[in-house]
Amino acid sequence: MGFEGLVAPARVPDLYPLIRPLLRALPAEAAHRLTVNALAAGLGSVAAPRPEPDPPSLGQTLWGRHFPNPVGVAAGFDKDAEVPDALLRLGCGFAETGTVTPRPQKGNAKPRLFRLYQDDAVINRLGFNSRGLETTLARLRARPRVGIVGVNLGKNRDSTDAAADYVDGVRRAGALADYFVINVSSPNTSGLRDLQRRDILADLLRRLVEARDEAAAGTPLLVKIAPDLDQAERADIAGVVVEQNRGPSGIDGIVVANTTVARPAGLRSRSAGEAGGLSGKPLFAPSTVLLGEIYRLTGGAVPLVGVGGIASAEDAYAKIRAGASLVQLYTALVFQGPGLIGLIRRGLAELLRRDGFATIGAAVGADHRCAAPERAAQPTAGRLEAAPP
Ligand SMILES: Cc1cc2nc3c(=O)[nH]c(=O)nc-3n(C[C@H](O)[C@H](O)[C@H](O)COP(=O)(O)O)c2cc1C
Repeated sequence: MGFEGLVAPARVPDLYPLIRPLLRALPAEAAHRLTVNALAAGLGSVAAPRPEPDPPSLGQTLWGRHFPNPVGVAAGFDKDAEVPDALLRLGCGFAETGTVTPRPQKGNAKPRLFRLYQDDAVINRLGFNSRGLETTLARLRARPRVGIVGVNLGKNRDSTDAAADYVDGVRRAGALADYFVINVSSPNTSGLRDLQRRDILADLLRRLVEARDEAAAGTPLLVKIAPDLDQAERADIAGVVVEQNRGPSGIDGIVVANTTVARPAGLRSRSAGEAGGLSGKPLFAPSTVLLGEIYRLTGGAVPLVGVGGIASAEDAYAKIRAGASLVQLYTALVFQGPGLIGLIRRGLAELLRRDGFATIGAAVGADHRCAAPERAAQPTAGRLEAAPP
């Protein structure tokens, strides 16, 4: 696990062939720990070429915040806010810490993380291993407030009041978060995904909007959903978010999607039968279809973050055309290393140019419009009053 390309720079070509098999030979979680430690020690710049400045076409303003490019590392990589700045230095347009739970907890028994090399995929059943919110907050307090760093919030396994845990997260993280993600979609905490049910979700989000307005007015509040939702559940969630958005403040975005409990036919790796959430290449198609549906169901008026199986600039571009304003990836980084972030940024700029889009914003949701790119609707600004396409 971790970035197996982490030590692949041109500057140390003689070490790479030695260390990459070593990373592979390590248990997945140990490899991840090594990677995070290396990033924390400042070795990220050794692993990937220093990123070039972002071309202006990749920049966009969402929720009043400027994102220099739309590419971020997905939640779960930096659960305890150890390396948000190292990720930004690798060229990410934003970083996301978490999922963090209010109190520390160990998560599930090991082994709980599996690399599916033959499928470009990972299965995890980590179960919200977290050092707890206090540790995250201390780290966020200590960092310079440069770049956009979101906080992904969860609930403790033994908590009897899930909503109280999320509200606690929003209140305590307050002004330290540049945005919040409410994670109700991890498959590894029993009952968590039930929070996506219409009435429960509506109540939870109402309480969270209230808490956010009191503790951190103006901080965007996003909800992260599962890819394993049936048609009615998809419509329900879109409906709840749109409904919340009718007032002066509401839910500001949806992250589509978390890992899947489905096991698509054709998986070849030995670990494919492990329990947990599957991520990576097999998740790309279903999560992109879901993204497009959520874009359509919300009228393109709620910014979406497209996640699931992105492994190239073309994949990221497909998410953007399907309706994502921002994209995130994790699993492909495990196999390709952090240089992938720069490749995606460069490739995205090229794809925009090829298709005649002046900016990322103009390409968002392009697949849903019949108009030529030049006449495509402008990007949504972050709230429902923005013109739907
Ligand atoms: C090892 C691992 C841990 C993850 N932990 C979290 C988490 O704590 N919170 C969360 O919202 N998503 C978590 N995810 C899901 C990712 O954020 C992402 O939604 C999913 O992996 C799909 O993207 P990918 O195919 O690019 O990996 C995790 C994924 C992996 C592989």
